Amino acid sequence: MRTVLVAGGCGFIGTNFVLHLLRTRPELRVVNLDKLTYAGNLENLAEVEGHPNYRFVKGDICDEALVDKLLGEGVDVLVNFAAETHVDRSIKDPAEFIRSNVVGVQTLLVCARKRNVRRFIQIGTDEVYGSLGPSGRFTEDSPLQPNNPYSASKAAGDLLVRAFHKTHGMDAVITRCTNNYGPFQFPEKAIPVFVSNAMQDRPIPVYGDGLHVRDWLYVEDHCRAIESAMERGRAGEVYNIGGGNELPNIELARLILRELKKPESLIQFVTDRPGHDRRYALDSAKIQKELNWRPRVTLAEGIPRTVRWYLEHQEWLGKLRSGDYLEYYRRHYHQTHGLKE
Ligand SMILES: NC(=O)c1ccc[n+]([C@@H]2O[C@H](COP(=O)([O-])OP(=O)(O)OC[C@H]3O[C@@H](n4cnc5c(N)ncnc54)[C@H](O)[C@@H]3O)[C@@H](O)[C@H]2O)c1
Repeated sequence: MRTVLVAGGCGFIGTNFVLHLLRTRPELRVVNLDKLTYAGNLENLAEVEGHPNYRFVKGDICDEALVDKLLGEGVDVLVNFAAETHVDRSIKDPAEFIRSNVVGVQTLLVCARKRNVRRFIQIGTDEVYGSLGPSGRFTEDSPLQPNNPYSASKAAGDLLVRAFHKTHGMDAVITRCTNNYGPFQFPEKAIPVFVSNAMQDRPIPVYGDGLHVRDWLYVEDHCRAIESAMERGRAGEVYNIGGGNELPNIELARLILRELKKPESLIQFVTDRPGHDRRYALDSAKIQKELNWRPRVTLAEGIPRTVRWYLEHQEWLGKLRSGDYLEYYRRHYHQTHGLKE
């Protein structure tokens, strides 16, 4: 049985990926290593806690002794989602971004090499390419031109992965995706903020003139793309993963308001983010051609599905907004495992 170590499996995409593997790949064992920062929610994975092929380990990817021990137990593939991810937070305080997104990647790479992990998958972002004008798309060969501390730290992590492949011949693949949406996204990111504010008739904050364009990728499509890179990606390659759903933020806000039958008057323009990239769009021809992956969920299907999920999970949303989700780990996990708090 192969073992996949998922780092950062209690965050938004990691949660979806762990659930995807456990639902569709009974021949894989999944170990989830997560530090449980404010963005990690153990309760997301409550339904698989007793799953025979699943194990959770609380820990930091920068903790070399722990990572070495885990990888020494036998890991075939390491998929790294663990990162600080919120651009606004990186502008206020970049230190933690450098630690987790750069030093953390380096620690994983050093230990993976030492313990002969067969494949290393680094989950990257389109933000490393910087900003586009009204036309064109980034390919895997576009220069890296990050414009904020978050994307700069992600670019540094990607470059370390590339260097370990070139220097040590490590089997490593980098994926770079566009903005994800779907279940379990922390309510500091646009879509869950829009939905949860609108549900409570509170204003929806839209940066600047609202004309910043993002390409939206349904998280399930992303999980399938990562799986294909894990299984069939070529070592040393980068694969762009785009949703093919470009939309200005203001249109996204309108779409969500229409879905919730709320008035457009809830839209409130707020001061633009410094260094705010105008447009991101990826050319995904490489992954489509080489790995035969295509996004299946259009925005017309994915937005109603996502809005419905948040409507049906208002308690989940409420706990994250109030901070109560942190209690789950403290009470439930420590009790179940007989651990000291
Ligand atoms: N969400 C998006 O739209 C998007 C787009 C492009 C790329 N990405 C990339 O995908 C990955 C996952 O993004 P997400 O939105 O799920 O993030 P998230 O913020 O929801 O979750 C991050 C997870 O990593 C964990 N973590 C953070 N630092 C850690 C550390 N030092 N050690 C162990 N665990 C740690 C957190 O506890 C959390 O569970 C990130 O690498 C991000 O850069 C995300």
